[in-house]
Amino acid sequence: MNDIFEKVVNKMGPLGMYADDAHGYYTFPKLSGPIGPRMVFNGKSNLNWSLNNYLGLANHPEVMQADAEAAAQFGMAYPMGARMMSGNSDYHDTLERDLASFIKKPEVILLNYGYQGVISAIDALVDRHDVIVYDAEAHACIIDGVRLHMGKRFVYTHNNIESLEQQLQRANKLVQQSGGGILVITEGVFGMSGSQGKLKEIADLKKKYNFRLFVDDAHGFGTMGETGAGTGEEQGCMDGIDIYFSTFAKSMAGIGAFIGSDPQIVKFLRYNMRSQIYAKSLPMPMVIGAIKRLELLRTRKELKANLWNIVNALQNGLREHGFNIGVTTTPVTPVLLNGTVAQATQITHDLRENFHIFCSIVIYPVVPKGVIMLRLIPTAVHTLADVDETIKAFSEIKRKLDNNEYSPEFIQQTLA
Ligand SMILES: Cc1ncc(COP(=O)(O)O)c(C=O)c1O
Repeated sequence: MNDIFEKVVNKMGPLGMYADDAHGYYTFPKLSGPIGPRMVFNGKSNLNWSLNNYLGLANHPEVMQADAEAAAQFGMAYPMGARMMSGNSDYHDTLERDLASFIKKPEVILLNYGYQGVISAIDALVDRHDVIVYDAEAHACIIDGVRLHMGKRFVYTHNNIESLEQQLQRANKLVQQSGGGILVITEGVFGMSGSQGKLKEIADLKKKYNFRLFVDDAHGFGTMGETGAGTGEEQGCMDGIDIYFSTFAKSMAGIGAFIGSDPQIVKFLRYNMRSQIYAKSLPMPMVIGAIKRLELLRTRKELKANLWNIVNALQNGLREHGFNIGVTTTPVTPVLLNGTVAQATQITHDLRENFHIFCSIVIYPVVPKGVIMLRLIPTAVHTLADVDETIKAFSEIKRKLDNNEYSPEFIQQTLA
């Protein structure tokens, strides 16, 4: 018999294996100062491209004021209890109505957190007779929801409609026997590559196959579509999305999430989502703060316009300077370089210490071996000067990488 702690100590996992060297710098870094494009890291001001504060709402004065007033009036505990038991309020209802009318879905249910909300919604919607068909690059919360599922699940190649059709055909055969249904799950905007889920093409497949479509639009809400109502609006297929999910953690710069759907589905979710029934409801400042954020997201068109000015300047500039930014059609901006994990850490260190640029770094297994992804999240509060500074720094980094200046041997030689 083994002690489970033995395994925990010896197998720290794909990220934990770097903990001893990385903690506090590459992982769990501390950014301080007001949230925005310039924040203090390791004692120095850095140009920051790593926050999903797409519209710059995180410390918008009106948002800060609404948060502070709500906290002063209600504290952080109010209301106590799960919503079903004792934790409901008019504010919770108002936020749901405001969200529903904005995304043009008949009803909305608020969720305490996005991650657990997605898991729990999937869990509530399917039983062992049903089949889930999902995109291979789906976010961890979708994968975890699928893991809970007692019935069959089929994964299709990322954004590949042919592969999806093959899986739908398999799923179709199964549900003919089981008497269940099919739930297709994908994302509006994939948070690593910045590609959009092919929502319109997927929704169109409903003419051929009988299924329901669940879309996680965490990165699309507030950034995509004419009004900012998300990737369904962008692709003109909101009606084809049966379950529309987004979180408040990105454009809304808060905590919480929501699902929009038909009244009968929302009613079912209210009474069957275990993450909501057995957990305390969202505190009042989060709800009142979200009402304010949504009002600004809806009415201050300049926020999304600024965001896209920065996105376009950054992405066009990077492409013009010979960078591979993959297939993004959204604000998420990956910069793909070839190199080892050791080189990735050296580049990140160089960027932070010498160029004072802070961005996320993504390595294997999230990207293939030999690929380094520097991931930039432009926001409405960045400036064109920030973009220029970044492109200059990245060009220098790339020159050094191509010149082999990030090889461990080179570093040792220069130190010797
Ligand atoms: C695609 C996607 N879904 C769900 C979540 C989880 O949302 P939350 O942070 O509200 O738990 C995230 C990350 O925030 C995400 O990127």
